[in-house]
Amino acid sequence: MFSARSNEIAPFVVMQLLQRAREYENQGKTVMHFEVGEPDFQTAEPILAAAQSAIAAGHTKYTSAQGIPELRERISCYYQSLGVAVEPERILVTSGASGGLTLLSALLLDPDDELLITDPGYPCNDVFARLVGARPKAIKVHAKNRFQPTLDDFAAAWTENTRAALLASPGNPTGTMLAAGDLADMTVHATERQGFLILDEIYQGLNHGPVPYQTGLAVSDDLYILNSFSKFFGMTGWRLGWVVVPPQAIAPITKLAQNLFISPSTPAQYAALAAFDEDAMEIHLQRKEAFVQRAAVLSEGLQKLGFRIPVAPDGAFYLYVDISHTGMSSTEFCWRLIDEFQVAVTPGADFGGHHADHYVRFAYTTNIEAIGLGLERIEDALIAWGINA
Ligand SMILES: Cc1ncc(COP(=O)(O)O)c(C=O)c1O
Repeated sequence: MFSARSNEIAPFVVMQLLQRAREYENQGKTVMHFEVGEPDFQTAEPILAAAQSAIAAGHTKYTSAQGIPELRERISCYYQSLGVAVEPERILVTSGASGGLTLLSALLLDPDDELLITDPGYPCNDVFARLVGARPKAIKVHAKNRFQPTLDDFAAAWTENTRAALLASPGNPTGTMLAAGDLADMTVHATERQGFLILDEIYQGLNHGPVPYQTGLAVSDDLYILNSFSKFFGMTGWRLGWVVVPPQAIAPITKLAQNLFISPSTPAQYAALAAFDEDAMEIHLQRKEAFVQRAAVLSEGLQKLGFRIPVAPDGAFYLYVDISHTGMSSTEFCWRLIDEFQVAVTPGADFGGHHADHYVRFAYTTNIEAIGLGLERIEDALIAWGINA
């Protein structure tokens, strides 16, 4: 028998949908993909070149568990460019934000501690808590509050068993940011209750317009920050991210990192040094603009077809779309869309249970032409199913 913990984890519907999409592709059909949560762009050329040079120079051995000093220095300079001072010593390079989540769970949570998360939210959050025997507790977040918890929601959910909260800004699947005042108040609340606030900023940099803060660290220094090279920097498969922790947490998290990971990927770290160079940054910013344009096209097209997008995202590359007018549950809608029209989208059920039947997530990690074709197919679907816009 495998562990009870492994039995508790529910498989994602989207993985089954993706499997179905592959079957259609193997039959020679084209599938319009709106389910994938990673940039469609190849990693920027300067990063690829830096990786090749690093490998040629023999940078293939373990590094220190915290990551190479040059990269921690670069990340520190990046924060400086965002207007906050973060000493390199507070930065630990990780194996993606997923590695960071593993480390922060191990650092901050004891068995039976509660970790507050949001519903809807990033599905794996739940699993990181369970892995260390802690109990995830979902705060239901509402469209009327931009899918972020209010201070009242937060304070009401926090009990004597709560040890930490994990919030994302911008979040997945909704792309919304937590207001600066709320973030400040929640940090104070967590600290007063001898707890911790973890802020997932993995979509930092992919903002669609002016943002309330470039990083939560501009609002409070008492945060545990998660970030990654996966999204804005376009390096999903390199498995590299970082955390920023308060000074007192540096030694214990380093000890955990030494034991759990030894070090993050060495070639990836050397490649990531180039991610902050001017030429690479220019590419990241152009791509960010492409995401902004795609969001506009997709959102307009879907609304013309009668879909409701209750909250426009502040960033990331997702639209959380209300499909109530179809009269179907989101899971039925997603299966029929892939099976009958070969369009792949993710059902709300993959992000929690709160109103999940009414929502699907569209990722605009596909080009404008594909978005147009996808919208045409969705229109055909609605006509075929007798649903009026
Ligand atoms: C909100 C959020 N956090 C963390 C992750 C993990 O990302 P990675 O491990 O690639 O850095 C993801 C991935 O999609 C995400 O959406």
